Amino acid sequence: MDALNLTDGYNRVWQELAVAVKNRRHGFRAFTLATVDAQGFPQARTMVLRGANPESRTIRFHCDARSPKTSELRENPAACAVFYGTDEKLQVRAYGAVTIHRNDSVSEEAWSEMQPMSRDAYRTPFAPGSRRVEEDRDRESLPPPDAYKNLVVCNLTVSRLEWLSLSSEGHERVRHDLASDGGLSSHWVHP
Ligand SMILES: Cc1cc2nc3c(=O)[nH]c(=O)nc-3n(C[C@H](O)[C@H](O)[C@H](O)COP(=O)(O)O)c2cc1C
Repeated sequence: MDALNLTDGYNRVWQELAVAVKNRRHGFRAFTLATVDAQGFPQARTMVLRGANPESRTIRFHCDARSPKTSELRENPAACAVFYGTDEKLQVRAYGAVTIHRNDSVSEEAWSEMQPMSRDAYRTPFAPGSRRVEEDRDRESLPPPDAYKNLVVCNLTVSRLEWLSLSSEGHERVRHDLASDGGLSSHWVHP
């Protein structure tokens, strides 16, 4: 239970996140993103992890500019990303504020690196969550330049990171607080 173990746990979380960005089968690849809506209710949905950077302490994901979650994040950038790896028996909760990138150098780079199949998700002329009617079938897909405008790249800057490791020898839980000046303070928590 010393400081070294706390640091090891912190580093391992970022390593696992980085692996999941590249490995579709890693348990952290799909995670739950929780936001707060205009009525103060929690909203949660599954997302794909697109980036994890321990230097900037950011977690990246992509979504549609027209989706409810984007509006929620514009109104209130507070979010929590929850990951669970069955093989690793590890749960991670990352809290922080989300920065939205649209029509800028960050979204341009993401668009240029995106597979055509992934780009197709942004070609629908309909806002995600809007009511679907029969006539919608006849509407054509948007051309790529218009589809690009629907892409939003989100960076969650982590200010608090909690992990829970399940083990028959005893569960372990740690809370890390990440200060904006780069400081890190960590302590064990009763699981
Ligand atoms: C496995 C899986 C991965 C998903 N990945 C994403 C994603 O990376 N980005 C996204 O916007 N929606 C993703 N979705 C869809 C969202 O869960 C959600 O249904 C959609 O984005 C609308 O969310 P909203 O109404 O809260 O804005 C994914 C769904 C599943 C089941």
